[in-house]
Amino acid sequence: MSKIAIANLTQMFGPLRVIEALDLAVEEGEFVAIVGPSGCGKSTLLRLLSGLVKPSQGRVAIDNLEVSGPNPRHNLVFQEHALYPWRTVQQNVALGLEIQRQNPAQMRPRVDSLLELVGLENFAGYYPHQLSGGMRQRAALARALAVEPDVLFLDEPFGALDAMTRLVLQDELLRLWLDSRMTVVLVTHDVEEALFLADRVIVMSALPGRIREVFAVPESRPRDRGSTVLARLKRSILEILGLESAIRKAKIPGDFSI
Ligand SMILES: Nc1ncnc2c1ncn2[C@@H]1O[C@H](COP(=O)(O)OP(=O)(O)OP(=O)(O)O)[C@@H](O)[C@H]1O
Ligand SMILES: [Mg+2]
Repeated sequence: MSKIAIANLTQMFGPLRVIEALDLAVEEGEFVAIVGPSGCGKSTLLRLLSGLVKPSQGRVAIDNLEVSGPNPRHNLVFQEHALYPWRTVQQNVALGLEIQRQNPAQMRPRVDSLLELVGLENFAGYYPHQLSGGMRQRAALARALAVEPDVLFLDEPFGALDAMTRLVLQDELLRLWLDSRMTVVLVTHDVEEALFLADRVIVMSALPGRIREVFAVPESRPRDRGSTVLARLKRSILEILGLESAIRKAKIPGDFSI
């Protein structure tokens, strides 16, 4: 049994067909990355997987149960980090635990250890606007991890960060995943990030989003970012993505058939 089973998934927004007949199985403990042209339905797919959007057609099941709404065990970190501005870092990280009605005495050590894990132990009392972009992403990650999710959906979690911070956070995410072996679905526009982290890289086509190709990454971790295997895969993926954006540009607005 797969951890996540997506069958014939189709999503319409009014007349716009955003995802079409998508099938995908993700195994327990697997790290899958999704790349594709902007606007091809990646965030929509994560919203469907995390139960925030109900599919127009088809089915998403996690642990063989149909996803029918948000579940704290299947946590989503949004493309635009969604920290509450009126809550401190500590209070943001504690949010999921509060929703689970954990008592404050239990919560405190858990929150402290998460803040330490993501290197924010000295910023517990800061508000989001007092943090750098990288720190906000770390806080969002800590908040998602607080409830010990067994599935983690990440929507371009490091998209807004500078190259150095990205690399650091990729290493941290890898370490977290190696420790926990959660099932992770990561959406990213950074092909190198996908190849550094994931077991499989799924390349989506331009609208309507379908799976164009799936690449298994046959390298053990931690990976050498400069390996020739990764470089070769990167070239193949970029070729497909280049082709996809050319197809997109050639299309008449309103005509979404390829
Ligand atoms: N709630 C909504 N209502 C109407 N249209 C929507 C809604 N959400 C997304 N869309 C449309 O669905 C398409 C896919 O959007 P989505 O955010 O999933 O793309 P994406 O692949 O995540 O893009 P990006 O890489 O830029 O983040 C877009 O055309 C968008 O306008
Ligand atoms: Mg998106």
